[in-house]
Amino acid sequence: INSGNTFRVASPLSNVTSELADIDWDNLGFGFMPTDYMYIMKCAQGENFSKGELQRFGNIELCPSAGILNYGQGLFEGLKAYRKHDGNILLFRPEENATRLMMGAERMCMPSPSVEQFVEAVKATVLANERWIPPPGKGSLYIRPLLMGSGAVLGLAPAPEYTFLIYVSPVGNYFKEGLAPINLVVETEMHRATPGGTGGVKTIGNYAAVLKAQSAAKAKGYSDVLYLDSFQKRYLEEVSSCNVFIVKGNLIVTPAIKGTILPGITRKSIIDVAINQGFQVEERQVSVDELLDADEVFCTGTAVVVSPVGSITHQGRRVTYGNDGVGLVSQQLYSALTSLQMGLSEDKMGWIVE
Ligand code: COI
Repeated sequence: INSGNTFRVASPLSNVTSELADIDWDNLGFGFMPTDYMYIMKCAQGENFSKGELQRFGNIELCPSAGILNYGQGLFEGLKAYRKHDGNILLFRPEENATRLMMGAERMCMPSPSVEQFVEAVKATVLANERWIPPPGKGSLYIRPLLMGSGAVLGLAPAPEYTFLIYVSPVGNYFKEGLAPINLVVETEMHRATPGGTGGVKTIGNYAAVLKAQSAAKAKGYSDVLYLDSFQKRYLEEVSSCNVFIVKGNLIVTPAIKGTILPGITRKSIIDVAINQGFQVEERQVSVDELLDADEVFCTGTAVVVSPVGSITHQGRRVTYGNDGVGLVSQQLYSALTSLQMGLSEDKMGWIVE
């Protein structure tokens, strides 16, 4: 596999890391499965990324003093590749991930690949792992770009070397509920992000910070946690791994992006899809009272796509949505987005990259 002079494969295809034959395509969850190749590109601090390569998928070596291990200087991204019935492979707005990574890198004092380098690296990695893309309608190939301070530091400072890496894994539904509604609990003590912090970028530490509340919620039978603002503890922020929307009649509202909320690409896309379908969409503060009074609630994210919420529990009070089923608006937006991502409807917005 060779894409011009930019990428090269470090070792032959025969050395397969896991067995395709073992995969049950009908029951893919959202779990890690090793595939054939990963993409790696490195650069020194103060320089630009220039040349990357595909390597056999495997463990990477890091100095124990690497910036990522000691001070969490790292970002990740998430996007998906879908296989179409005609054999084409589709990416959904990969340049948006590239731009978000660049913004995050600026916040985390890291160099980042250009949009073109990012998109080319994603394409090369997907093509090298093409056989792991699930059949049409059975799931997608989840693409996980990482950007990390891989050079050694001890005093607190940006690392002297950076690694951009992409690996992929075939995935199905994120929540074990599948497309059935999830049950969320509002967290009132712990917070995901605070103004001036890093909640608005996809830094690795943001996700470790939610594990405690998420584990406690799961132990009580909830699917996940909905976070509130850290100041008034009154306004919605996001769920551990996704953005949140509420629906009231023809109005769809989601918390505004003001530094504490991740600017989700699915969030942004759903806003446009909803407006195109005639909904009124507002990005602003959303109070818990408004949440509990909503007709429907749903979450959006690359991994979760559009996930309907069946119940929210806040300080012991449980409110249900969608009459034990998927709300009509959530269903409508889910169908519109996924048919676009899978190449089943016309790409009027120019979001698909083949
Ligand atoms: C995604 O939705 O792609 C994310 O990056 C969230 C992650 C926790 C799975």
